[in-house]
Amino acid sequence: MVRRPGRPAAREGAGRLRVPAYAKINLGLEVLAVRDDGYHELRTLFQTIDLKDEITLIERPRGIRLTCRHPDVPDEAGNLAWRAAEELQRRAGVRRGVEIRLDKRIPVAGGLGGGSSDAAAVLLGLDRLWGIGLGPEGLLPLARRLGADVPYFLFGGTALGLARGDEIYPLLSQVRADVVVVDPHRPLSTAAVFARLDARLTPRQNSYTIQRFVASSLRGEVSFRGLRNDLEAAALEEAPDLEQRMSRVRAVLEREGAVLASLTGSGSAFFGLFERRGSATRAQRALASEGFTAHLARTLTARQYRRAWVGSFGERGRSAGRTRC
Ligand code: C5P
Repeated sequence: MVRRPGRPAAREGAGRLRVPAYAKINLGLEVLAVRDDGYHELRTLFQTIDLKDEITLIERPRGIRLTCRHPDVPDEAGNLAWRAAEELQRRAGVRRGVEIRLDKRIPVAGGLGGGSSDAAAVLLGLDRLWGIGLGPEGLLPLARRLGADVPYFLFGGTALGLARGDEIYPLLSQVRADVVVVDPHRPLSTAAVFARLDARLTPRQNSYTIQRFVASSLRGEVSFRGLRNDLEAAALEEAPDLEQRMSRVRAVLEREGAVLASLTGSGSAFFGLFERRGSATRAQRALASEGFTAHLARTLTARQYRRAWVGSFGERGRSAGRTRC
């Protein structure tokens, strides 16, 4: 990777940066075929929500360390955020090191993209902290190598994902809605869910529902009708114990007026999208009273996502001391 004369690292509070790593949901996800590289050809609609991990990057003279208190988060080389730092350091020829402190709030292995978002946040943050200046576009090839979902988190908002889900096209109409995310505390392996799907997969060229959503978004009107997640049946095959809980969650979300209720990614988190905050709050309360872990969130547009980033660069040093890990 070539080192470009870009924006230098901000000078105040030198050596320390606190950055957000937001979760995503998939408003729709269709799997078209198995590719030659073993991955699956997707058509998906990504959407950022404001549920987030907090990452603090602290410069060290050399070496990369990662600390996190969450028991299910792999450390060091097993962690995508650590690998992101290591790859960036190597490819940009950086001699300095970093300590990555991860305060985990996004459910792990829930289809919410937490690990990928952490990795993208480390890329964007270190690009700034180490004064490399590649920016989101310049970081794309590296993000692609780290994982299929990582490129999306360089841009955020409402975006179309093609190919492995790593070819990203931000949409003109950005979704603004309230979201209820239900975490069934049942981690699912993405690879295992995709493998389950293979048995029932009929290869096809394109996805009509996703195309229709994109076309309607070009006209400035967004309809969630017909959107679906092809991984839902495969996820339930992988985790049959989830079936009853998932149909109960869907029933409550729809009863309270969700315009879309679906599994996100390969699961196991489930979400409902609401046009009114009051309905979302009622759904969240109803689910919580039945014993579900339900988070209330809002969507973030691509502009809001970018602003949150720029804001965090401006605040480096000031908020870093408050992190929990
Ligand atoms: O790229 P990432 O490591 O996040 O993907 C995790 C797993 O999900 C892959 O190893 C692969 O089994 C599966 N996957 C896939 N097709 C995609 C994305 C992910 O088969 N488009």
